[in-house]
Amino acid sequence: MVDDLKEFLERNGNSQTLAAVIGFPVNHSLSPTIHNAGFKHLNLQWNYIPLEVEEGDLEEVFEQMRSLNLKGLSVTMPYKAKAAVMVDECTPTAKALGVVNCVTSTDKGLIGHNTDGDGFLKALKHDADFDPKQKRVVVLGAGGAAKAITEALGRAEVSSLVVINRTQAKAESTAALATDVGTVGDLEDISEADLVVNATSLGMKDNATQFPCPVDLIHSDQLVVDLIYHPLKTPWLSAAEQKGARTHNGVSMLLFQATEAFTLWTGQQAPVSTMLRAIEEELERRS
Ligand SMILES: NC(=O)c1ccc[n+]([C@@H]2O[C@H](COP(=O)([O-])OP(=O)(O)OC[C@H]3O[C@@H](n4cnc5c(N)ncnc54)[C@H](OP(=O)(O)O)[C@@H]3O)[C@@H](O)[C@H]2O)c1
Repeated sequence: MVDDLKEFLERNGNSQTLAAVIGFPVNHSLSPTIHNAGFKHLNLQWNYIPLEVEEGDLEEVFEQMRSLNLKGLSVTMPYKAKAAVMVDECTPTAKALGVVNCVTSTDKGLIGHNTDGDGFLKALKHDADFDPKQKRVVVLGAGGAAKAITEALGRAEVSSLVVINRTQAKAESTAALATDVGTVGDLEDISEADLVVNATSLGMKDNATQFPCPVDLIHSDQLVVDLIYHPLKTPWLSAAEQKGARTHNGVSMLLFQATEAFTLWTGQQAPVSTMLRAIEEELERRS
């Protein structure tokens, strides 16, 4: 795959700037669709490709980025933590999380960013006009997504953030990312929250019908967000809607983590509606 990258850069390096998503596997990634729609809309001579990278080739991809016309990189599973040590510098957020999902190539070298948390905050504003400042939040889950949104919600000055997770040790390290407002809690905390977020993988594929918390704990004064976007509406989100809560899925977080990266790479404002339409069409095609 690294040979493919070299060949691509040699062939197109002068006429096009390249961006890529690296991971293993990557063929399911929506990122090429989202970013290429944005480049096309703005008439930018950029091309975004998926690169399935074996672990042994990872370092070479970063070397290519230093020397060739590869200006933007998205990083997905399983390399997000490894990328954080391969870049020259991390932003404070990426450093706190130890996880990089976006790399920029700059005069100062390769900079690792994490755009998931800010993407989530923008999604709250876009979908629900919700300002998390001084709000009580419950985050269900303590994996990569939960960590990113917890750190961002801490920065956004929530009044409390309770993490509930199957594995307690992970709940503790996640809650610590929201500094002094983060705690580990249990199901009793849910009804007190203004915002409840499902950041577990319950609701996806193998766990499609499993709920991340009993829906009886949800009520109509709450905003409920499920980070899952495929399916667009998990059974838990539908049940929360039936309880009268305002509900949103993970499409906007996916969109805004991408628009943040787009702007970091190109310096241009991302065409949000075009990129959203590209996501919706692709998800529709896959459903
Ligand atoms: N919208 C977006 O842009 C976006 C971005 C990133 C992720 N996501 C979504 O967010 C979800 C989490 O992603 P991730 O990257 O954070 O995954 P991850 O790191 O693998 O974390 C998975 C989380 O789900 C919990 N979990 C898994 N199976 C469970 C079960 N049977 N019972 C109870 N808890 C269970 C895990 O608990 P343990 O710690 O106990 O294992 C952990 O907290 C996924 O659905 C993903 O699609 C969306």
